[in-house]
Amino acid sequence: MTESQFTPRVFSGIQPSGGLTLGNYLGAIKRFVDMQNAGDFETIYCMVDLHAITVWQDPEKLRHNTRELAAGFIASGISPEKSILINQSQVPEHAQLAWIFNCVARMGWMGRMTQWKDKAGKNAEAASLGLFGYPALMAADILIYHATHVPVGEDQKQHLELTRDIATKFNHDYGVDFFPLTEPVIEGAATRVMSLRDGSKKMSKSDPSDASRINMTDDADAIAKKIRKAKTDPDALPSEVAGLKDRPEARNLVNIYAALSDQSVEDVLREVGGQQFGTFKPALAELAVAKLAPISTEMARLMDDVGEIDKLLAKGAEQAREITAPILKRTYEIVGMVGA
Ligand code: TYM
Repeated sequence: MTESQFTPRVFSGIQPSGGLTLGNYLGAIKRFVDMQNAGDFETIYCMVDLHAITVWQDPEKLRHNTRELAAGFIASGISPEKSILINQSQVPEHAQLAWIFNCVARMGWMGRMTQWKDKAGKNAEAASLGLFGYPALMAADILIYHATHVPVGEDQKQHLELTRDIATKFNHDYGVDFFPLTEPVIEGAATRVMSLRDGSKKMSKSDPSDASRINMTDDADAIAKKIRKAKTDPDALPSEVAGLKDRPEARNLVNIYAALSDQSVEDVLREVGGQQFGTFKPALAELAVAKLAPISTEMARLMDDVGEIDKLLAKGAEQAREITAPILKRTYEIVGMVGA
C-alpha cells in the first residue's frame, strides 16, 4: 500500500495539563484551524487526557482543563461540524493500540527522547512508567486513524520521527504495509514561540514565571503589560531577516507578530524595519489583544455550559470510533489475536 492510498487525514493533540499559551495557539491550534478550513483533509483534534496523567493531575482540575481546552479549540475556530473533536480517553482504541506499540518500540528509542530526559531529569527512577512510554501512546493516537499529516510545534518533531519508526517496524515485523509513514507539518512563523523573559527558552505553561508567557485566558491589560515588559535588546528592528541573527528576543517578537497577522517574517520586517521597540511593542500588543481577546471571551462563554461541551465530546468520540474500531480490529488480526 502506498501513501497515496491512505485517506488524507490530519490528527493532532494537546495536553489538558494547564492553561493554553500563545505558543500552543500559534504553534498548534491556529494551524489546526487553517488545515480544517483548507478542506484538503479530514481533521481530528484531541485533548490528550491520558498523556496528561503521565505526571500527577488533580482529578477535578483535569476535568476542568479538558473542558477548557475543548472550549479553547472551539473558540479559536475548530468547528465540531467540520472536524472531529475528542478527548482521548473516550476513544479506547488509542490506549489499546498503544499497548501493541509498547511491544514494538524499543527501550533504547524511548530513552533517547529529549522530552523524556527533560521531564524525568536526574530522578528517572521516580518518573512514571507512563512518562517513559508516552511516545508510544502518541504514535497510537496518530496511527489509530492512519493519519497522514500531523501539525505540531518544533518540540514534537522527535516524537513524530519515532512514530514513523514504530510504523516502519510494525509493517516490517508483520510483513504488511498497514500503517502510513505520517508526515509532520511544522510550518509557519511560530513553530517555536520563545519565553518573553528569555529568548533561549521555549514559552511553556510550566515556566514558574507567568510574565514569560501569554495565556489564552489573559485579559487585554495583562497581554499588553507582558509584551511591554518583554525582554529585548537596545537596537532598532532590522528590515531583513538576516538582521535578526543572534537577536533571539527580537526574532521571537517578530515571529509572533508575523504569525498573528498571517504575514511572512519578510513582509513584517519590510513594514517595521527601523522601528524601535518602543514603537513596535505597542503595535504588537494591540495586534495580540485584537486576535486573542475575542477567543478568551468566547472560551469563558462556552465554559458557562459544560454540559454542551460534554455532549460535543461524546458525539466526537462516536464519530472517531467509526474510524478507530476497524483499524484496531485489523491490527489485532495482523498480530494474531483470537476473536478479532
Ligand atoms: P503539548 O500539549 O505540549 O503542546 C501542544 C502543541 O503546542 C505546541 N507548542 C508550541 N508551539 C510553538 N511554540 C511553543 N512555545 C509551543 N509550546 C507548545 C506543541 O508543539 C504541540 O503541537 N505530545 C504532545 C501532545 C500529543 C500529540 C499527539 C500531538 C499527544 N498525542 C499526537 C500530535 C499528535 C504534547 O505534549 O503537546
